[in-house]
Amino acid sequence: MSDNPAVPRPPGRQPAIRVTMRPKDTNAFGSVFGGVILSLIDEAAFVEAVRQSPRRYVTVAMNKVVFERPVQVGDIVTLWAEALAIGRTSLRIRVTVSSRSIRTNEDVTVTTAEVTMVAVDENGRSVPIGAG
Ligand SMILES: CC(C)(COP(=O)(O)OP(=O)(O)OC[C@H]1O[C@@H](n2cnc3c(N)ncnc32)[C@H](O)[C@@H]1OP(=O)(O)O)[C@@H](O)C(=O)NCCC(=O)NCCS
Repeated sequence: MSDNPAVPRPPGRQPAIRVTMRPKDTNAFGSVFGGVILSLIDEAAFVEAVRQSPRRYVTVAMNKVVFERPVQVGDIVTLWAEALAIGRTSLRIRVTVSSRSIRTNEDVTVTTAEVTMVAVDENGRSVPIGAG
């Protein structure tokens, strides 16, 4: 990774996801679709939720999504996830997405979002996070 201070690198933490953007992720001009990044954000939030408390979760809300910079085909995208708040049945998770260009090695923050995941039972009903 680069030394760009704009890209968060929480001490001792691993990224939730790291993936290379492929042609199937982009439009005809090589720009990655926002929906691809949203899907990765959803997955990264799930990874953080189960890290906090391993159980079944669904996504109830994705808020404060800001696509600050574009992502291009070939870029290496890294998603960092951190729990901001733990409620009775829900977890609010901040996801920060950075992208490294394979052409320049520049690593920049491209998207940020907050995702709320809800713990559910096998019937899809919300349950307390502490419950088995
Ligand atoms: C998630 C779901 C089970 C919640 O239903 P519910 O239990 O009746 O909802 P509640 O109002 O009791 O809220 C449960 C928790 O979610 C939170 N929540 C509900 N709506 C929310 C919203 N719009 N934004 C943020 N948090 C929300 C509540 O604050 C509560 O958190 P807490 O227990 O930690 O205080 C239900 O809405 C659902 O199944 N949604 C679809 C989820 C899904 O399939 N996602 C994938 C989409 S393909």
